[in-house]
Amino acid sequence: MTDSGNLWELNKSIEVDSSKLQFNIDTFRSIGGFNAKLASWDPKEYSSRYYKSLLYEFSKDVDKKIRKSEYFDGDKNLKGRGLNFFLNKIQNRDLGSPTCIQFIDNHVDIDYILSCDELNFIFPELQKSKVILEIGAGFGRLPHSILENFDEVEKYYIVDLDWMLELSSKFLKHVLSKEDFYKIQFVESSNYKNLLFDALNANSHEIDLSINIDSFQEMPTKVALDYLDFIGNNSEKFYSKNAICKYHPSVVDLQLKDDSQYKSALEMGLCKDSIDIYNSKELKKQQSKYLQQYCPKDFKLKKDEQCFGQFLYYQSALFEKI
Ligand SMILES: C[S@@+](CC[C@H](N)C(=O)[O-])C[C@H]1O[C@@H](n2cnc3c(N)ncnc32)[C@H](O)[C@@H]1O
Repeated sequence: MTDSGNLWELNKSIEVDSSKLQFNIDTFRSIGGFNAKLASWDPKEYSSRYYKSLLYEFSKDVDKKIRKSEYFDGDKNLKGRGLNFFLNKIQNRDLGSPTCIQFIDNHVDIDYILSCDELNFIFPELQKSKVILEIGAGFGRLPHSILENFDEVEKYYIVDLDWMLELSSKFLKHVLSKEDFYKIQFVESSNYKNLLFDALNANSHEIDLSINIDSFQEMPTKVALDYLDFIGNNSEKFYSKNAICKYHPSVVDLQLKDDSQYKSALEMGLCKDSIDIYNSKELKKQQSKYLQQYCPKDFKLKKDEQCFGQFLYYQSALFEKI
């Protein structure tokens, strides 16, 4: 009989004796090895431990960046508020039941911590923008965050696939006030140029800021280049946050049953070199290539920044018309 008051007796009977485990000195520290019981957790842990830990660290990182941000210099009331400065204004963030952690006064999830990081990166541009275009907005976390934080924005155009617009229009109608929801125009990607030109002409609008996040990298190259060309001809500024490269699934110890999606992903976007994303030298090389590929014609780079943690192979970049 095992003594339930003795954890290590239990460990031995459950993990060692029952499986007749032989300690192999060559492999006991590898994935799935017994060392996960001793020093740390297994690299391929199945709980939400690593996810929540990264979420917590990401929150600390963004909070610190906002507190230190030069944009709030001279305004003591704003400067000290960190993450709360943006998050407090974004209502209904729990719609969809995301996984959260508690950080200071706020329930934080990955979508809105990404948004706060983005708001901080392009804060001065958002303060000056009346007309924004976002291509590939997903469920709408960023338009939600921008419209609740920046009253100056008069119009927000979202270009996306028709079935994604169904989700974002539903989500944004739920979370936004009527006044903010009606600032959005949903534009189907299949005919986006005509639809946008009509809307821009009818409202005498010019696009102040175009945004593309985690999206050009997943489109056929021709489609992404067409959007980049449109932005170059019709927008004052461009904010891109996309992957700077591709990587093989084995880099994250992933074994694919069917590699058709992986093969297709390799063909997408503007940066197709496959690298080891956990090699700082390779990342640096790719970052410069990305900044060249994503710069629209007759634009120049204003600033850029490597993304946090699990997004380390993404780069935030702000380009502006020369
Ligand atoms: C990975 S999601 C990113 C969503 C959002 N930007 C975010 O960061 O949460 C990729 C987005 O690109 C959109 N997308 C894919 N192909 C597109 C196309 N040809 N034109 C416009 N949007 C497209 C998808 O529908 C989706 O909204």
